[in-house]
Amino acid sequence: MKSTLFYIIGNWKSNKTIDEAVIWAKDFETFAKREPFDLKKVRVILCVPFLHMTTLASLIELRQLPLLLGAQNVSAYPQGAYTGETSASMCQVFVKYTLIGHSERRKYFKEDEPTLKSKLEQAKMVAIEPVYCVQDENMSIPETVTLVGYEPVWAIGTGKPDTPDNANRVAGIIKQRSGRDIKVIYGGSVTPENVTAYATMEHISGVLPGGASLTAQSFHRLIVNASKS
Ligand code: PGA
Repeated sequence: MKSTLFYIIGNWKSNKTIDEAVIWAKDFETFAKREPFDLKKVRVILCVPFLHMTTLASLIELRQLPLLLGAQNVSAYPQGAYTGETSASMCQVFVKYTLIGHSERRKYFKEDEPTLKSKLEQAKMVAIEPVYCVQDENMSIPETVTLVGYEPVWAIGTGKPDTPDNANRVAGIIKQRSGRDIKVIYGGSVTPENVTAYATMEHISGVLPGGASLTAQSFHRLIVNASKS
């Protein structure tokens, strides 16, 4: 493993009732106490639905859970008359990170580059660090971005991850093309079993597990395995 912190950014997507979220947190506490991991090696962020942020933030503080909260998305608009939206300034109390441009946002909600730029601006304005997701090395990355998620669509939720070597190659190209000091993390069917192979790659600074974050047991195992590699 590299000398810098390895990011592990879980993404629950649109999953879990509040009761299930609370059970997850209790389970995670049990696993993390039984087998602690080294927070000097990993930065663990869990991107949850807006609806669960308050409850989970309280539980994290109260139970001293070793993880941070992230958002899966923020509004492209500031606080105001935008019915149904959740602004970055509202999330800022709970999260220090947000995903922006996840392929599911681009696909199902037709988020285009101007929209994503506005979201980036909103996040930056309240000091939320965006994890800007791209699906291949040819997609454009705005200049303010310092943390990029490479997540090939065909690898998401399919159980068919990109190979660590190819993910590393793509991450290297993204870094080189940016001409800046950026970090690239990999997402797409990352599991407790395969995370070590990504964690040891030169250009990969973290992973973005979706399915494997849904049970506390697999998320915890993934973290432990990554922190030992
Ligand atoms: P997955 O999702 O781990 O379930 O493939 C990853 C992602 O959405 O980036």
